[in-house]
Amino acid sequence: MQVLTVISQKGGTGKTTLCGHLAVQAELAGNGPVALVDTDPQGSLKKWWDEREDSTPALSQTTAAHLQTELGNLKQQGFKLAIIDTPPAITPAIQAVISVSDLIIIPTRPSPHDVKTTSSTVDLADRSDKSFVFVINEAHPKEGITSDTAITLSQYGTVSPSIIHQRADFATSMVEGRTVMECTPDSESTREIETLWSYINTRMEKIHKRAIFQHNPNTPRSFDRRQNPDRRQNSDRRLVSVTPPTRGGFGRRKTDKNIAKD
Ligand SMILES: Nc1ncnc2c1ncn2[C@@H]1O[C@H](COP(=O)(O)OP(=O)(O)OP(=O)(O)O)[C@@H](O)[C@H]1O
Ligand SMILES: [Mg+2]
Repeated sequence: MQVLTVISQKGGTGKTTLCGHLAVQAELAGNGPVALVDTDPQGSLKKWWDEREDSTPALSQTTAAHLQTELGNLKQQGFKLAIIDTPPAITPAIQAVISVSDLIIIPTRPSPHDVKTTSSTVDLADRSDKSFVFVINEAHPKEGITSDTAITLSQYGTVSPSIIHQRADFATSMVEGRTVMECTPDSESTREIETLWSYINTRMEKIHKRAIFQHNPNTPRSFDRRQNPDRRQNSDRRLVSVTPPTRGGFGRRKTDKNIAKD
């Protein structure tokens, strides 16, 4: 199971919107089953999921302290992808979430203030030797500030070639527990999410292949060290196992929904 995490210190940059949309798009593209993991105490992703009629993607609500155990449970249940939503903060808990992630998405609106606040997230990802990608969200088509933002961000890391523009259907679909792919399937918004997922999925596949190669006992040690000298050290720094969550675990929620559906 691969783990994709959406993080930004700044509030309202589109973390929850992107989590919901990418999870549904991954399912539509046949890259599931997908489990969403809401680690934000605000519970916005869970509220969206509660409004949903479709039983996919699944949802787990947990805390950073219980995250590794929860991810183990999800893996055992056969999920191929977990997408984690996080609160707007840079805390030790966020560092713990980063440590269990394969790829980090940093959503950024095209404003100088938003761009400035990405640096702390980038620092955390770098410290854990984790791959990250900036996704520009809520862009305005004719404003030069979007390209200025892309150029500025590209000095610090990879910027997704798919930019998400500001459109009402992103907000209205989320209120209904759905996504633009389900509400406005022939729209520009849908095309942007399809392109974004295709790009993120390709990145995830590359990370997966690299991990398999590096964990293959037949890989020469000299090659292993040369390609990624810090990887072994980082894997030692992962979150230690903790008591499983007693409330809101994935298994109970999924069962409830399935029973309701039947
Ligand atoms: N591309 C978009 N176009 C229009 N509205 C958007 C877009 N992306 C997000 N929004 C709206 O912006 C608001 C904030 O989005 P969202 O809740 O996803 O951000 P967030 O980063 O998760 O916020 P928080 O930091 O509070 O968790 C919501 O009302 C959402 O509907
Ligand atoms: Mg949110």
